Amino acid sequence: MSMSRTWWRGAAIYQVYLRSFADGNGDGCGDLAGLRSRLGYLKELGIDAVWLNPWYPSPMADGGYDVADYRDIEPVFGTLPEAEKFIAEAHDHGIRVIIDVVPNHSSTASAWFEEALVDRKARERFWFRDEPNDWSSIFGGPAWTQVPDGQWYLHLFAPEQPDLNWDNPEVHQEFEDVLRFWFDRGVDGFRIDSAALLFKSATGYEDLDDVHDVYRRWREIADEYGERILIGEVWLPDQERFARYLRPDELHTAFNFDFLSCPWRPAELRRVIDLTLSTHLPIGAPPTWVLSNHDVTRPVTRYGRADTAFEHGGRLHGSPSDLELGRRRARAAALLAMALPGCVYVYQGEELGLPEVEDLPDDARQDPMYARSDGANPGRDGCRVPLPWTGGEPPYGFGGPRPWLPQPEGWHGLTAQAQLADPGSMLNLYRSALRLRRDLLGDGTLSWLPSGDDVLAFGRDSGLICVSNLGAVPVPLPPGEVLLASGPLEGAALPPDTTAWLASPE
Ligand code: NOJ
Repeated sequence: MSMSRTWWRGAAIYQVYLRSFADGNGDGCGDLAGLRSRLGYLKELGIDAVWLNPWYPSPMADGGYDVADYRDIEPVFGTLPEAEKFIAEAHDHGIRVIIDVVPNHSSTASAWFEEALVDRKARERFWFRDEPNDWSSIFGGPAWTQVPDGQWYLHLFAPEQPDLNWDNPEVHQEFEDVLRFWFDRGVDGFRIDSAALLFKSATGYEDLDDVHDVYRRWREIADEYGERILIGEVWLPDQERFARYLRPDELHTAFNFDFLSCPWRPAELRRVIDLTLSTHLPIGAPPTWVLSNHDVTRPVTRYGRADTAFEHGGRLHGSPSDLELGRRRARAAALLAMALPGCVYVYQGEELGLPEVEDLPDDARQDPMYARSDGANPGRDGCRVPLPWTGGEPPYGFGGPRPWLPQPEGWHGLTAQAQLADPGSMLNLYRSALRLRRDLLGDGTLSWLPSGDDVLAFGRDSGLICVSNLGAVPVPLPPGEVLLASGPLEGAALPPDTTAWLASPE
């Protein structure tokens, strides 16, 4: 592993949704044993780090974002000694390990909440009130739930996820200890859930100023360990407010949700790219480029729709999608994202080109969004379906006979095994691209090259040129040797919905 102090500035980070990655013990749920057995796959993919969604003991009311104990491992996933083994093995493979930390809320199954139920003094760690206010939960329904003695507690998400009270110094102390607990065990960084929501006032909870003191303190702790990073999940429309999280003494990076939500349209993409660069470069923070994660529609499905934007709330769920077109665009988008300056994220299954599973049986759906919206929002299960590894039918080598969410028929061509054997597969495109990216892309800047309105063309510091054609007709490629293309070229022309990487001529 390179010992550069700035590995994270240009990293390719692979997101592991542990429950759905690989099942090592056959109980239908992904686990650490499954992940450990696939470290070779991840090394060959060419990523620099993995980010794991919460792996802590949890009743799984929100896929593990309801954390009952921040210092242990969910038994379904494995044990603490096994997690330590995994961290060491990942490092041996040259892969750094980032884990999720969930500071905004915990779980009704946590020791703190159980104490709070029986001891009113212990309620100061949460938001207990005699009367609720009119806030709604982000998952639908009211944000307050009543306990048997009549008081109400706040939960911005599901009722099983009581919000912690960051006005209480004990909460600060607890999370500082939790960071150290995992840094001491070798983790290389934290992805901070709901990072802008921690503080509450009479009028709101989004992006209150006090949150920055928390991250300044966390940064001091990360810096004590050296080479460790903090990544914010910060959904804020205001770029100036967003940038405050990335000041040199706060978080290292944050997810780029503007890029993730952007429709497949050249002017909008260019606007988002420029906005991202002008937000990040002046403060010296590396941008990030994200096409998908465990909360959003899979790109292959999204890009095949008439409306290619991502939107929360499920309005576009089930709208017709041309998956062939979607796959073509997802390939082009992947090469675009990987060529841009900064870090790139790959959500498991994205490298396999999995579509969103939109026809899950209703009784299989587990996302609280589905139940709390009375089914109006189908929720996020469709991007969390267990990965297909091998074979011709479910469970496609995931492990065990019955995965926790059903996989569709017809994924035999999408398994990792099938795709490794196919030079034109999405998996081989990701492998080639990530390999080239290591040497030629990542941290740095870009310069736009002259092009038509439907084309995004830019050069990178290494001399690599990236050209994406989002128009309806082929366009001439600039001079240079083509290093990689997301689809077949037409002689010296770049067809629609295709990206090419070229070495600029001497
Ligand atoms: C963001 C996470 O990505 C999502 O999955 C979760 O439901 C919410 N935060 C609440 O923790």
